[in-house]
Amino acid sequence: MRRYEIREPKGIASLSLCEVENPRPGPGQVLLDMKAWSLNYRDLSMPRGGYPGNEKVLHAPPLVPVSDGAGEVLAVGPGVTEFAPGDRVITCFFQSWEDGEVTSEAKASALGGAIDGVLAERVVLSARGCVAAPQSLSFEQASTLPCAGLTAWAALTEAHARAGQNVLLQGTGGVSIFALQLAKLMGLRVIITSSSNDKLERARQLGASDTINYKDQPDWDEQALKLTAGVGVDHVVEVGGAGTLGRSMNACRMGGTISLIGVLTGMPEQNPSPLNVMWKRLVMRGIYVGSRRQLEELCRAVQVGGLLPVIDKTFGFEQVQEAYRYLKSGAHFGKVVISRG
Ligand SMILES: NC(=O)c1ccc[n+]([C@@H]2O[C@H](COP(=O)([O-])OP(=O)(O)OC[C@H]3O[C@@H](n4cnc5c(N)ncnc54)[C@H](OP(=O)(O)O)[C@@H]3O)[C@@H](O)[C@H]2O)c1
Repeated sequence: MRRYEIREPKGIASLSLCEVENPRPGPGQVLLDMKAWSLNYRDLSMPRGGYPGNEKVLHAPPLVPVSDGAGEVLAVGPGVTEFAPGDRVITCFFQSWEDGEVTSEAKASALGGAIDGVLAERVVLSARGCVAAPQSLSFEQASTLPCAGLTAWAALTEAHARAGQNVLLQGTGGVSIFALQLAKLMGLRVIITSSSNDKLERARQLGASDTINYKDQPDWDEQALKLTAGVGVDHVVEVGGAGTLGRSMNACRMGGTISLIGVLTGMPEQNPSPLNVMWKRLVMRGIYVGSRRQLEELCRAVQVGGLLPVIDKTFGFEQVQEAYRYLKSGAHFGKVVISRG
């Protein structure tokens, strides 16, 4: 069988397709025939050497990249009761985070970063490292749930977002478009920013009620305040990081919640003033993807709510480098997917 490996992290060109022996499932494990994968912003860092806690590529190469995939169970090892051959499953981003608060052990089980990922034709995982894919989704659609989908779900549910409230979303990448779709399912009003008017139009078609072009209007926080009659938004799904955090605080209402998720503006060099956190009694909550239980909850919500993940473009298994380059370009809206199908 074939799988992608990064032996020496020298950029996207270091993703190479290799022939290896078929893996076999041991006790408690399942063998998956992988059908589709989705890429996340974090995947771009692995061909550059990873990031703290996700540096297998530096310490124990090669690294099999990518955390998010969907496939069919081909065989199960002794003791597996969760799944049977023929079942459709998706991967858990953290292989060892069942429920509750994240632990060091869970963090050390992040696919495609801390440990080998799933960009392979066949993969062996612990049965507890997979969940059943929603019946309503194709393999390609289901492959988008483990990281971007779950992160958006964790952000909104852990912030106790509820119908009638409003949420500010930043940009139109994977996490933000999932947050848009989930927020609409949950009955929230969505204000979203983007650098592209075309993308903002697509966001309106998905149900965003207010849009702000953050290139034309760098004071998007003031615009968000105006859109909420000066009160501020109830929630921010903060994917920009240090370069956007100060404005996110300004855009929030008193007692509003900021879910800290991303670093799209780069690793922290700026220090946004913490004063607004105090004066406005803001709640800042770190989000690190989510647990297996939360992924199961998301799958139920997707199934019951009829949510169809937004796939911008699908690449073939032989076109992985092109898929990475496309994600890197930032031209996408929603998710970039790789399919064997
Ligand atoms: N903590 C966690 O658990 C977790 C989980 C998933 C992702 N993340 C992080 O969250 C971030 C987003 O991940 P993703 O996979 O959704 O990324 P992505 O799909 O690659 O999103 C890229 C998009 O972000 C938008 N963007 C870039 N710079 C921006 C800025 N200054 N202000 C507003 N929007 C900006 C752009 O949208 P437009 O083209 O519309 O302008 C761009 O197309 C990344 O930093 C990622 O590492 C964290």
